[in-house]
Amino acid sequence: MTKVKPRIIEGGAIDDSSGMTMEQYSEIMKKQLGKEYIRFADNVIKKINPLEDSTVLEIGPGPGWAGINLLKKRKDLKLVGLEASPDMIRVASENAGREGFSDVKYIQGFGENMHQINDGQFDLVISRDSLHHWTEPDKVFKEIRRVLMSNGKLYIHDSRRDMSLFGRLIVAIASKFIPNNMGFYWKSSIAASYTPDEIKTMLSEISFNDWQVESDLLDLVIYRT
Ligand SMILES: C[S@@+](CC[C@H](N)C(=O)[O-])C[C@H]1O[C@@H](n2cnc3c(N)ncnc32)[C@H](O)[C@@H]1O
Repeated sequence: MTKVKPRIIEGGAIDDSSGMTMEQYSEIMKKQLGKEYIRFADNVIKKINPLEDSTVLEIGPGPGWAGINLLKKRKDLKLVGLEASPDMIRVASENAGREGFSDVKYIQGFGENMHQINDGQFDLVISRDSLHHWTEPDKVFKEIRRVLMSNGKLYIHDSRRDMSLFGRLIVAIASKFIPNNMGFYWKSSIAASYTPDEIKTMLSEISFNDWQVESDLLDLVIYRT
């Protein structure tokens, strides 16, 4: 077995100072990851049951496409986004409005301290590819537990750093064909991501024994159903 490399931290918000405007980032993500956003929404719907009429909090929505794709499939849901970057909030609000979901509320803030949100407000927390940016994931997990109802559900998706040789080969080849330097950003996200075992250890240290971790070739999911 190959040794897993230490994380290369990629912390904090993504904003207009990252080398492109978040409008440009949003368009690139929509074009390149369109199918991935649909897959994320399908996976949430498959895993989370019952989902009817849920109030959903999305952490780190970025341009908003993951949550917007979920709303397209499930118009009974009510969505709030908590996002560190004001530039992303500007773009996510525009995107949600343009797609017919102007009632989505985006709040500026950090998952580590959701002081804007009262206890027990949400039925479900979702997040896609934001976990590897969180500076203190254990704090975010505790805040998620606080803002969820007692039987609240959870679906957090991210890359995994401990990919097999086959997984790394797929990333190495696929990333060469992704335009706009996004292949490079994908590889940096993977280098910043956690392993399923690291997440399991983190969860057991804070005694969150009812949160599960699942992984496949490229990704991991933390969930509670
Ligand atoms: C790689 S982007 C993913 C965006 C989106 N979820 C997607 O799948 O397209 C990560 C997002 O998380 C946000 N973020 C980073 N750290 C955060 C934190 N501690 N709390 C909330 N949002 C955060 C970033 O500003 C960025 O918008």
